[in-house]
Amino acid sequence: MSIRDVRVPESLITALQNAQSVAGLTGSGVSAESGVPTFREAQTGLWTRFDPEQLATPEAFARDPHLVWEWYAWRRKHIDKAAPNRGHEALAELERRVPSFALVTQNVDGLHWHAGSRNVIELHGNIGRSKCSREGVIVEPRQDDTGVPPLCPHCGAFLRPDVVWFGEALPVDALAEAFEAARGCDLFLSAGTSGLVQPAASLPIEALRSGAVIVEVNPDETPLTRYASYVLRGRAGEMLPGLVNAAYG
Ligand code: OAD
Repeated sequence: MSIRDVRVPESLITALQNAQSVAGLTGSGVSAESGVPTFREAQTGLWTRFDPEQLATPEAFARDPHLVWEWYAWRRKHIDKAAPNRGHEALAELERRVPSFALVTQNVDGLHWHAGSRNVIELHGNIGRSKCSREGVIVEPRQDDTGVPPLCPHCGAFLRPDVVWFGEALPVDALAEAFEAARGCDLFLSAGTSGLVQPAASLPIEALRSGAVIVEVNPDETPLTRYASYVLRGRAGEMLPGLVNAAYG
């Protein structure tokens, strides 16, 4: 499908052109076209016998840090090979066009940064970073540390990926910024997320309460669909460039 074939209602084009402040929320669907498997789809090969929800927890890491580190190393290998797609690029372009723009993401792959987005709020952390499992500070593993997991160069505790695990709190500042962006925007664009995981799923509802136009981009129906003012039913790599092109092309 060419981006010119994406049907965008005139009233949505006008709403976007007039918006002073836009907030975006992305989920793993936006990276699917970059070849990054979604959280649950990611289980192939050796890893099929593990439930990701059982691996992405502090309890799993305490029980078997080697296994959990290996799993993340394997996921990171996929991500390192991935490049941003046209959906990521359209969001970066939107940021350049709109007076105020914030992009809240649940993705840990860093592809929005690579696409050129600047005001990115990472709610679930970033798989490319490591932190000390004892003190929580972000650290670079030592080059010569081949441990699985490597050790904190300061205190000797295991390092862990800087991502939010099930049962853990989200980063306080990122969460506050995300809610502020949702409450302050004229238009809220939710793309590639199932809208099932809290508290991210509350952001569009918060924006709606504050009077924003809600736009959803997803090939499938989600719990957000019934609240959305506009639904672009399709893949982010087609719908997002189609939307940006319709408003600014
Ligand atoms: P999900 O796997 O829950 O949902 C992915 C969504 O993307 C679904 O609604 C799909 O229909 C949609 N989708 C698939 N392909 C798409 C495409 N090409 N374009 C647009 N949409 C597409 O992923 P998330 O909503 O990101 O948390 O899940 C949220 C969080 O749950 C993740 O960050 C992760 C997971 O548990 C943690 O790891 C803490």
